[in-house]
Amino acid sequence: MIVITPPIKSQGIKTKLVPWIKSLASVAKQNGKWIEPFLGTGVVAFNSGYKKAILSDTNPHIVNFYKGIQDKSISAPLMKRYLEREGKLLREAENNGYDHYLNIRSRFNSGEFSSYDFIFLSRSGFNGMMRFGSKGNWNVPFCKKPNRFAQAYITKITNQVAAVSRIIQPEPNWIFYNKSFSEIIPLATENDIIYCDPPYYGRHADYYNGWTIKDEELLFNLLSETKAKFILSTWHHNDWRENESVSKFWSRFNIITKDHFYHNGGSITNRRTVVEALVCNFDTKQIKQHNHGLVEKNKNVQLEIDWLEPIAVANF
Ligand SMILES: C[S@@+](CC[C@H](N)C(=O)[O-])C[C@H]1O[C@@H](n2cnc3c(N)ncnc32)[C@H](O)[C@@H]1O
Repeated sequence: MIVITPPIKSQGIKTKLVPWIKSLASVAKQNGKWIEPFLGTGVVAFNSGYKKAILSDTNPHIVNFYKGIQDKSISAPLMKRYLEREGKLLREAENNGYDHYLNIRSRFNSGEFSSYDFIFLSRSGFNGMMRFGSKGNWNVPFCKKPNRFAQAYITKITNQVAAVSRIIQPEPNWIFYNKSFSEIIPLATENDIIYCDPPYYGRHADYYNGWTIKDEELLFNLLSETKAKFILSTWHHNDWRENESVSKFWSRFNIITKDHFYHNGGSITNRRTVVEALVCNFDTKQIKQHNHGLVEKNKNVQLEIDWLEPIAVANF
């Protein structure tokens, strides 16, 4: 499957898990709307294949960017022109480009919140991270590449904008909200499918990604009550511990798991394996249940093959 990658980068992006999520979603056979209350970069929604969708995130910058694409105030040609102009200023700026990165960051944080600046920061910040400080300010440092926006990279980003603008349907078929999940999940009806990828409890947090056990409990209550089918992404365990919210809440539903590598930094030692889980409220017999425990750890090659077959059953 060719996965459409969005123009926004984030450390939590599910690009590599999209085929797995999609294969489970296809088992649900829903013909209503795709509902995604924790949209993030949008990679899962853009590959869902649904013509009707409700998409939401508490991060207003993500929602404004995609609404801008939807109403055509943001387009691939405009993005190209913007990145060529700002990329040149970055190349020529003092401190190996850092001064211009800081200019854009201050302009964004001063309240302009331009979606174009948002993409600039997302694509030239350190390691493709998205992180906001305690006042909601973008606080990722520069990737230290003054020539970040070389022509090939601009073309890549521009093509991504063009690709998502072909996928995003006009309102009312696709509706974007900047609301909390508690206002979105109750909108689902029995023909819909809800995909939830909340901040992982017990893992990293920032201004838009705080997540408490109370949030997890509310999410559990809402998903338990819904008439729609749902899929929830969460982590199951890593080398050190288990996700306690699985036994506390999610083990009442069906669960499938898969090894996944997170690339947090350039060095091999910073790449961690996490066993990812998909929880759902429908039958999963057609899907391979678990693959974790089979993939040998600490081999470069696994960075490429982390979710390929073969898959076997593990006990937990
Ligand atoms: C793990 S990320 C989603 C990643 C996404 N699946 C992707 O592949 O890019 C979680 C998202 O939930 C959003 N979020 C955090 N708390 C939320 C809440 N209470 N309601 C809705 N969205 C929330 C965050 O802003 C973040 O974009």
